Amino acid sequence: MKTCPAGPGVVDKDITTLYQMLEQLRRIQSEALDELSKVESLRELEFWRVRYLGKKSALIQILRSLATLPAEERPRTGMQANKVKNSLESGLREKEELLQQAVVAPHLDVQRLDVTLPGRPFPSGGLHPVTKALDEICSVFRNMGFQVVEGPEVEWEYYNFEALNIPQHHPARDRFATLWIDADGRKDSRLLRTHTSPMQIRFMERERPPIRMIAPGRVYRYEATDATHESVFFMVEGLAVDRSITMADLKGTLLEFCRCLFGDERQVRFRCDYFPFVEPGMEVAIQCLVCDGDGCRLCSHSGWIEILGAGMVHPDVLARVGIDPTVYSGFAFGLGVERIPMLRYGIDDIRLFYSNDLRFLKQF
Ligand code: PHE
Repeated sequence: MKTCPAGPGVVDKDITTLYQMLEQLRRIQSEALDELSKVESLRELEFWRVRYLGKKSALIQILRSLATLPAEERPRTGMQANKVKNSLESGLREKEELLQQAVVAPHLDVQRLDVTLPGRPFPSGGLHPVTKALDEICSVFRNMGFQVVEGPEVEWEYYNFEALNIPQHHPARDRFATLWIDADGRKDSRLLRTHTSPMQIRFMERERPPIRMIAPGRVYRYEATDATHESVFFMVEGLAVDRSITMADLKGTLLEFCRCLFGDERQVRFRCDYFPFVEPGMEVAIQCLVCDGDGCRLCSHSGWIEILGAGMVHPDVLARVGIDPTVYSGFAFGLGVERIPMLRYGIDDIRLFYSNDLRFLKQF
């Protein structure tokens, strides 16, 4: 044959065999890979290996017979056969690895998931210590039959002062350094409420006795801040109006409240104080929880921390909202909320609550 290279029949025959061979290799490859994709176990994989890469497999037979091929056909056929062999072998390795992993973690999609990776942290938030204190205070009073109401932080001068027996030039206004919204001195002036006591008036204008309510909320003072003073802080107002409410009811209620929050052992001190909207008025302090009464920065070295202003609702206040003070009487109190967690956790600076330092906040 080789002696007559130009003979058309010879060329034809060689080309035909070459094409057939290459075609056969292509078929082997596509069939083998197709079958491989259906393999589901290591056992099946071994059958597959014997069938397509074993000694008697068509591919290996072709590789063996390369030597017998005419010299011109050998390189192309050989190259193609090796390519197919490599692709089947690497397919085999991949599949083997996959199936082995599936034995370890059969329920996972092992192709995409590396189960050895550390999990993504799931960030969880928490309530602010002041929010927690508010919740707790509300729940104590709710259990005593008080209802919880809320009111505006931007308040009329009338509700914040006048209706509470603090007319324009009353010296008690000095006690409340006020942030005004409208021009000072106008009858309809608005301000940022300096306490929650305006809610006493708003509530009594609306409701008739018997009244038991508390009003938690933000209040504002135009003051320099220090370890125990903030210009924005929280208060809870309390009000009870009914027939024959006495100072004993007020003391009993506040004592119960202090016991719920600070335990039975904590000393509670009631002292006279003056607020124009109550008569008589008093101040309630508890023994400092940080120093147990010895004196420290938090209690200004007095051993006591004032947490409440309170008193019997002034008859003029009742009369102003149309409640007859000869029939009804009531008590009221106003409580500084931040003081509670400060005492509880021994926090000696109120400004920490609002400095947004997560290292501080995460502790609660
Ligand atoms: N509103 C008073 C304050 O801000 C507290 C208070 C409330 C006093 C109710 C007596 C009665 O200091």
